[in-house]
Amino acid sequence: MAFFMVFLVIFLLLLCISSALLRWNEVRYRKKGLPPGTMGWPVFGETTEFLKQGPNFMKNQRARYGSVFKSHILGCPTIVSMDPDLNRYILMNEAKGLVPGYPQSMLDILGKCNIAAVHGSTHKYMRGALLSLISPTMIREQLLPTIDEFMRIHLSDWDNKIIDIQLKTKEMALLSSLKQIAGSDSSTISQAFMPEFFKLVLGTLSLPIDVPGTNYSRGIQARKNIVSMLRQLIEERRASKETHQDMLGCLMKSEESRYKLTDEEIIDQIITILYSGYETVSTTSMMAVKYLHDHPRVLQELRKEHLAIKEKKRPEDPINLTDLKSMCFTRAVIFETSRLATIVNGVLRKTTEEMELNGFVIPKGWRIYVYTREINYDPFLYLEPLSFNPWRWLDKSRLESQNYLFIFGGGTRQCPGKELGIAEISTFLHYFVTRYRWEEVGGDALMKFPRVEAPNGLHIRVSSY
Ligand code: HEM
Ligand SMILES: *[C@@H]1O[C@H](CO)[C@@H](O)[C@H](O)[C@H]1NC(C)=O
Ligand SMILES: *[C@@H]1O[C@H](CO)[C@@H](O)[C@H](O)[C@H]1NC(C)=O
Repeated sequence: MAFFMVFLVIFLLLLCISSALLRWNEVRYRKKGLPPGTMGWPVFGETTEFLKQGPNFMKNQRARYGSVFKSHILGCPTIVSMDPDLNRYILMNEAKGLVPGYPQSMLDILGKCNIAAVHGSTHKYMRGALLSLISPTMIREQLLPTIDEFMRIHLSDWDNKIIDIQLKTKEMALLSSLKQIAGSDSSTISQAFMPEFFKLVLGTLSLPIDVPGTNYSRGIQARKNIVSMLRQLIEERRASKETHQDMLGCLMKSEESRYKLTDEEIIDQIITILYSGYETVSTTSMMAVKYLHDHPRVLQELRKEHLAIKEKKRPEDPINLTDLKSMCFTRAVIFETSRLATIVNGVLRKTTEEMELNGFVIPKGWRIYVYTREINYDPFLYLEPLSFNPWRWLDKSRLESQNYLFIFGGGTRQCPGKELGIAEISTFLHYFVTRYRWEEVGGDALMKFPRVEAPNGLHIRVSSY
């Protein structure tokens, strides 16, 4: 009995302390004009609920507080906006003080010249330099032939094997970019580069605690190793005076170019390209394989498109821009995959000064989570939003150009790599569906949130088509 009383007293005491803590945290953030919402626990906020319940956490808070609410997630007081018009406004108005708000670990590891770390005229300059590397002419003349050559080799020899398609698409996204960047030199560095790059990616998604053994400190170390590999490559090329037809070659011949970057900027630009096109391209490719497996009618239509292209070519002819332009159904499959799987849930911004948004006052330095997931399932934009139906994208002028398409972001930071990414995934699909048929081994779990991934891989049994 006595034991029970002690237990009860301790329990009541804990209850009092925790409700006082919660209350204190609410009062601390109760400023006039902030949107409604809850702030959770001191320091931790509502991060646990957010990560555990995922999209449902967002939906529940919206049902209670409306589509703009405050919270405290991932270490910062945050405004979540699920309002499509406000989201558009935020993305279009960086100049009013709505700059990227990515976590410190990401900025530390991607470098201070990284595109997400720079604003204003510096951003314009770095973005311009990037766009000149991936212009339509560059895609036609240099990148597409490189991608074709890469995919042919990467997708050879899968016959009669069990393949982890998640791993294969990750390697593909990284190594294909590396080949576009460093051309033939990429094959000499790729084996050393790959494990460092994977560590770098993990580091950007970790808590910034610089103690040996953490994912963060491994990420910082991986960045150092990658920087020194790239620096060595730059120096070797400078010494040899050869010209190279690849992205690094373009970045280094600054005399004829409008953009002159320092070595440090060149290196961060390369890391930006590798990082931005990595998870997006690999996950979209993996999910396309998944959806195609589950929807035989779609696969049949896609194969028809690619067999028709193949028929018109000799086996050694590479996929060129004419072929790519004719892949209308493939493009639709890619858009439908990105929409239904929601590869990107939203983007992060932060305020550089106190400002008013939708009648609310947002304090300086708060993070804004421009949460764009729900618009992908809007029944007014997409009839039967939960079904995988690429045909809905074929009337391209309508869906692809509507104002509420955030798959590639929007405004001043809309994805510059959109067409390049589509070209890579399309070429991958071309060789995949014309060379192979496949079935899932089964039993692999797929996580949808906070990132789309298969924790233990996605295994398929491949045979030749
Ligand atoms: C299917 C593939 C892709 C998807 C879904 C995608 C999605 C996005 C999104 C949503 C943003 C906006 C981020 C923000 O506003 O904060 C973005 C920005 C960006 N993307 Fe992509 N992306 C893809 C492929 C690529 C590729 C292949 C590259 C390689 C060059 C790339 C490079 C970038 C860069 C550099 C930015 C930052 C632009 C800036 O801040 O001005 N992306 N992407
Ligand atoms: C580091 O990353 C791995 C792989 O995602 C994860 O399982 C592990 O929990 C992370 N470690 C820490 C300390 O966050
Ligand atoms: C692309 O390849 C096809 C067939 O190989 C050919 O007919 C077409 O002219 C090529 N287009 C360009 C722009 O080279």
